Amino acid sequence: MLDLTPDELLSTTRSVRLRLDLERPVARGLIEECLQMAQQAPTGGNQQGWAFVVVTDAETRQALGRLYKQGWESYQQAIAERMKSAGVAPSHEALRVRRSAQHLADHMGDVPVLVIPCFAGRLDGLGNEAQASQWGSILPATWSFMLAARARGLGTCWTTLHLHHEREAADVLSIPYDEVTQAAMIPVAHTIGEEFKPAPRRPLDSMVHWEKW
Ligand SMILES: Cc1cc2nc3c(=O)[nH]c(=O)nc-3n(C[C@H](O)[C@H](O)[C@H](O)COP(=O)(O)O)c2cc1C
Repeated sequence: MLDLTPDELLSTTRSVRLRLDLERPVARGLIEECLQMAQQAPTGGNQQGWAFVVVTDAETRQALGRLYKQGWESYQQAIAERMKSAGVAPSHEALRVRRSAQHLADHMGDVPVLVIPCFAGRLDGLGNEAQASQWGSILPATWSFMLAARARGLGTCWTTLHLHHEREAADVLSIPYDEVTQAAMIPVAHTIGEEFKPAPRRPLDSMVHWEKW
C-alpha cells in the first residue's frame, strides 16, 4: 500500500493514461482486493445489483480496444465539427487531455486489465428517479475500486467511449445486452512512478449554492 493520507488519496486519484505500465502484469489478488473495497459502496435499497467483468485475456482486450478506438474516433469527429461550427479553437488544457486520451485510445487493448462495471436492467425510457437510482448504485462502487487501486500503486481512468458500441462489446464479453447495462470501462495497470498531483479545479464558490440555488 502507498503511504497516502485519505485526503492525498482523494486528491491524487487522477485519470492515468500516459503513465500506465503496459508491460507489467497485475496480480489477480490486487484486483480482487479492489473489488472487495468496491463492494462496500452504497446501493439504492441495498440491492447490490452490480457486476464487474474483469478482462485479462489478450485477444478479448484487443477486441475491446478496437471498439474503444472506434468510439474515440467518432467522439473526436463530433467535437471537431462542433468546434468548427462554433468557430472556437481547443484550449491548451483541452489539447493536453486530448494528447493523453489519444495515447489511451491507441493502447486500450494493451492495458493489462480492463474492468467493465455493469448493473442489472436497462434504463431506456425510464424517468430521472429510476435513472438516478441505478447510476447512483454503480458509480460509487466503481470510484471506490479506482481509489483502492490508487492506494495499491495501480492507475485507472474512467472511460465510456466503448459504449458507442455497447452491443458489440456485450457480444465480445457474453453479456446479455437486454438484461445488463455496461456503465464504463476502467483500464488498470501499475503506474509508472507513484507521484500524482491534485488537479486544478474551478473556484469552490463558482459551483456551491449555500441554502438556495
Ligand atoms: C463519466 C466520465 C466519462 C469519461 N470518459 C472518458 C473516456 O472515454 N476516455 C478518457 O480518456 N477519459 C474519460 N474520462 C476522464 C476525464 O477526461 C477526466 O476525469 C478529466 O479529464 C479530469 O481529469 P482527472 O480525472 O485526472 O482529474 C471520463 C470521466 C468521466 C467522469
